[in-house]
Order: sequence, then C-alpha cells, then structure tokens
Amino acid sequence: NTKELAVAIDGPAAAGKSTVAKLVASELAYIYIDTGAMYRALTLKVLREQIPPDDDQAISDLLAKTDMQLEQGDSGQHVLMDGEDVTEAIRSEYVTNNVSHVAKHASVRKEMVQRQRELANKRSVVMDGRDIGTHVIPDAEVKIFLKASVEERAKRRYDENVKKGFTADFEKLKEEIEQRDQIDSKREVAPLVKANDAIELDTTDLTINQVAASVLEEVSKVLETRRDG
Ligand code: CDP
Ligand code: CDP
Repeated sequence: NTKELAVAIDGPAAAGKSTVAKLVASELAYIYIDTGAMYRALTLKVLREQIPPDDDQAISDLLAKTDMQLEQGDSGQHVLMDGEDVTEAIRSEYVTNNVSHVAKHASVRKEMVQRQRELANKRSVVMDGRDIGTHVIPDAEVKIFLKASVEERAKRRYDENVKKGFTADFEKLKEEIEQRDQIDSKREVAPLVKANDAIELDTTDLTINQVAASVLEEVSKVLETRRDG
C-alpha cells in the first residue's frame, strides 16, 4: 500500500495520546509527530529569552528564527531546537505551566500548522496534539479523540513523577491539568475540541494496549476499504 495515510490523535493532557501514538506508529512503521513538543520547545525559548507569554508579536518573531527537528533515535524521539537537544528540558513544570499561553496566539499557530503539514506531507504519519483532526490534517483517514477523567489523568502524571523519583502533589497536578485544559479549550484559534468525524475513546478504564488496539483496528478498516476499492 503506497498511498500515505494519516492518523490524527487529539485530546486533553494525559489522556494517553503520545504513548498510544508512539505504539501505533511503531506497529505500522509510520512516522510519529509530537506537535505538543513543538509548542513546548518554543515555550522553552520564550522563557529563556524572558519574553512575556502574552507578547504574540515577539513570540512569532522568535518562532520565525527558530529551527525545530523531531528525530527518531534508538531511545525514542528527540526534540532538537536550534541544534540543541531539549527533549528533557521541554517537560519541566515551568514549561508545562506556560505552554498554553504561548500556544494560544493566532500567528504562532499559523506558523506551527504550516510546519506540521510539511512534516506530514507525502508520508504516512501518526500525529498527536489538540487540533490535528480539526485543523492540521482535517482530511486524516483516521481521527481519534482520547479522553479520561481528570482524576485518572492527574493520577497518571503523579505515577510518572513518582517513577522518575520526583515528589509530586496530586492536587496540584490535577489543578495544573484542569487549568491547561481550560485555556486550550477556550482559546479563539483552533481550540481543543473533538472533530465531528473523530472516534471518541474514553481511556479512563482502558489499558494502553487496549487503546492502541482500537486505533489499529480503525487503520485496518481504512486499509481494507482501499484494498477493496
Ligand atoms: O502531553 P501533554 O498533554 O502534557 O501536552 P502536549 O501534547 O505536550 O502539549 C502541550 C501544550 O501545547 C498543550 O497544552 C497546548 O497548549 C499546546 N498544543 C497545542 O496547542 N496544539 C497542539 N497541536 C499540541 C499542543
Ligand atoms: O500524550 P498525553 O499527554 O495525552 O498522555 P501520555 O503522556 O501518553 O500518557 C500519560 C501517562 O498515562 C503515561 O505514563 C501512560 O503510560 C499512562 N497511560 C495509562 O496509564 N493508561 C492509558 N490508557 C494511557 C496512558
């Protein structure tokens, strides 16, 4: 099957998007594109240069001269910003708590969407984010919207922290997730919303493998229709 296929996975924080997207991409030998990492890398630079997250002009000027690369290494995906490996740095709490403010600007989103479309162009991809099915690849063959209760999502982030040996405050994590979801869902440009034609999966009581299996089943359906047609 030579024709490229796009799988769009959207949903709120810690719904399981990136974990599932990576599994599905690896299973199908498609390219995984983490669009959240791009907004995070820009946010890291904005914070380093002490630009106020509300200054949309300064931020889009900064983005215009920022190079970003997503590289598939043996140990997973690496995020390079102007040649620097920022894979770890973009996951800091400081970046997490500012990223939604940086990501809400129309000029920033316009440039990011353009770059993301170029990455997806003429290749089979699994792309995850907030606006993939609605704006970045509106004609994606498979669109998935993952959701889960905020308690479960906070618990997932809490467990991740504990696993890494960090101390974590469950209530604080929950509050931060709720706040980010709120900003992402209420923004004017390309807010977090399920596309009309997306399949919604509530992952609260599902394992990662169960979610991945559902996504792979949807891909199989599309591939079968193509074979028949
Ligand atoms: O993995 P997690 O859910 O924590 O977040 P992420 O996917 O890394 O995205 C971080 C932030 O980037 C989101 O909260 C959004 O503000 C923004 N984002 C966006 O606006 N559009 C996307 N396609 C992806 C991320
Ligand atoms: O990318 P997103 O923010 O949507 O979520 P994630 O980073 O893929 O998943 C957050 C955490 O929840 C990861 O540590 C996953 O292993 C875990 N997870 C889970 O326990 N059960 C699921 N059904 C999905 C994810």
